[in-house]
Amino acid sequence: MSNQWLSEMQEQKIEELLSKMTLDEKVGQMNQLSPSIVGGFDLPFPELIEMVTEGRISHEEFSKIMQNAEMDYQEDNIRAGRIGSFLMNNPKKSNELQRIAVEESRLGIPLIFGYDVIHGCRTVFPIPLAEACSWDEGIFEETARIAAREARSRNIHWTFAPMLDLSRDARWGRIAESPGEDPYLASLYSRAKVRGFQGKKLDAGDNLAVCLKHYVAYGAAESGQDYNTVSMAKSLLYNAYLPPFKAAVEEGAATVMAAFNDFNGVPCTVNEYLLREVLKEKCGFQGFVVSDANAIDDCIRHGIVADLEDASKKSCIAGMDMDMNSHAYSGYLKQQVEAGEVPEALLDDAVRRILRVKMALGLFKNPYSPEEKHTLYDVLPKEHVATALETAKRSIVLLKNENILPLKKGQKIALVGELADMSSEIVGSWSMGFNVEDCVSIHQGLLNAGADVSYAKACGVTSPFQPEELQSVVKDADIIVAVVGETISMSGEASSRADLSLPGEQEKLLEAALATGKPVVAVLMNGRPLTIPWVDQSVPAIVEAWQLGIQMGNAVAEVLLGSYNPSGKLCCTFPAMAGQCPRYYNHPSTGRPGAKSKFSSRYLDAPLEPLYPFGYGLSYTTYQYDNLTAEQAKDMIIAKVEVANTGDCPGEETVQLYVQDITASLVRPVKELKAFQKVSLQPGEKRIVEMKLPKSSLGFYDDDMNYLLENGEFNVYVGTNSKDCLMEKITVIF
Ligand code: GLC
Repeated sequence: MSNQWLSEMQEQKIEELLSKMTLDEKVGQMNQLSPSIVGGFDLPFPELIEMVTEGRISHEEFSKIMQNAEMDYQEDNIRAGRIGSFLMNNPKKSNELQRIAVEESRLGIPLIFGYDVIHGCRTVFPIPLAEACSWDEGIFEETARIAAREARSRNIHWTFAPMLDLSRDARWGRIAESPGEDPYLASLYSRAKVRGFQGKKLDAGDNLAVCLKHYVAYGAAESGQDYNTVSMAKSLLYNAYLPPFKAAVEEGAATVMAAFNDFNGVPCTVNEYLLREVLKEKCGFQGFVVSDANAIDDCIRHGIVADLEDASKKSCIAGMDMDMNSHAYSGYLKQQVEAGEVPEALLDDAVRRILRVKMALGLFKNPYSPEEKHTLYDVLPKEHVATALETAKRSIVLLKNENILPLKKGQKIALVGELADMSSEIVGSWSMGFNVEDCVSIHQGLLNAGADVSYAKACGVTSPFQPEELQSVVKDADIIVAVVGETISMSGEASSRADLSLPGEQEKLLEAALATGKPVVAVLMNGRPLTIPWVDQSVPAIVEAWQLGIQMGNAVAEVLLGSYNPSGKLCCTFPAMAGQCPRYYNHPSTGRPGAKSKFSSRYLDAPLEPLYPFGYGLSYTTYQYDNLTAEQAKDMIIAKVEVANTGDCPGEETVQLYVQDITASLVRPVKELKAFQKVSLQPGEKRIVEMKLPKSSLGFYDDDMNYLLENGEFNVYVGTNSKDCLMEKITVIF
């Protein structure tokens, strides 16, 4: 059977290889290890995990132990064909281990080396949540292309990216790694990432196999707590959380990583419905599924298996093809097949999938990476840095501006806030390959731009506000720029927060800055939406700058000084208070839509609206929308709207089109993003923007994954964000 990556002949080769493999060798292919985890401890690893899980050692102590742990590369097990993959980023060592696998093992099956190349390798780009605010498919693809080139030169074949978890809850730390709350935008992002990372041909040698994660609905973890339980109607899974994965599978994604969470009571790791029925059968996925780190072992604590032996059996039967260093498969699978508890055919299917990806990557033909390639990107190519700068600029979202920005030439700037001068904090979570010398802090970026800037820390992210430090720089200043937000460690994995306000005394810093009577700009440097209602009320200019990667400082300077007019649009809602979470724009109407009335979907003690809605982002110019029309032509809906640049500088606007299915057989969201178009306009310029969408995109899935197209009335919204729109009603007959 040929598949999307291999020829008939290559498939035949895999069958021949499979037929020669012993049970040990089959289990070996299903076994991935991370060298630093398997040996060198004075404590058995499971006990270490228990200690950190139970809080007997802190995460910091755990990472220190991990960093100092001796590496155990299991050479003998590689020689015996008992290992199929390593999680590592060490080109020289990878080649050595590969040589053992290819030249000293019985069948010479190459290893596949995986690593977390999430938003860049040596060239670190903005965190995914920031990059998604660019709404730019070309950027989504280009940053993945560059990351793939750099990572492959370091002998990494496979990245555990893109992360595609729809994120509707700002309390969840991993929202930082996600493309936000919308299925349509996340699906465009996922397709572009597969194209970028994998390239046109998987065996081109300058690309990476992707790993769609975390399958599935990890972002819906209850109360935004990481690893927490997930329950939802299957129709919600099919209409919201599955689409980015389905789109990426259609784009040719090579692997998928199962999520830590349970889904409706069954952990994804052992969820046969999700892994086999939905992913492999209904979505037609032909690559392989890898567990998340130690997740097969986690099934014991989920309470779905009695012990690791039970976990091994249940995972394999459910369709888990590779075990990421829980040692379940290497410990028990062979005996379970010999005892007839696990059909060997399931291992054959798993190994076939793994060998497919290795062959598609060209690892059988070219298993080694030439040493001279390893240093290829030790000096960053100019074009990589240029893309990092362009991506960073486009990811910045202007949240408020009462004629303060852009800064005027020659203005004396007092720059305050610990984060403004912390170059190591600009890369965000999951940036393991960066060099701090490549990083441009906001302070350095302003100096590079020739700004007249005096810096004082004045307040840490968690250390107290120092009034005298603020006074030391504001005296002669014309304007105060305060950089406030979160450190990298406050978002990402295992970093959920119940309080989303600015940590420490950073609001105090802003208050004191305002009290000087000088104009104040707040620059946010954060990995998630923050609840900043007082800042929104009090500070006249607010720039959402996220964690933008190595070129952050230059990008922020270009925006503050006006050489770049910000064009970013939020890919995630900013709640007004943590109590509003989960908060997202595409929610059902409910029988009593939130309104002034007490008897409606609202809180007694919180505003009705979020602070900033999905799709929101200002510009240094202004736009006017008029004359929306919505028509049907055969199988298309055609919307036209007139957009005018009514301000005094050129700008790029992302015109957004949403629809609402007013009456349907399931409650439907009040709005769903279905198209958008970027338009650049000179001051005074007016343009008719036309957007087309197939009528078929107006359908939705029911609980049985049937895609329903129901005649009826639809509202078509077009506007500058999900809240401020023009609306036309149409009746659609399918
Ligand atoms: C982590 C993360 C996953 C990552 C994997 C390997 O626990 O959940 O996103 O790819 O382990 O580092």
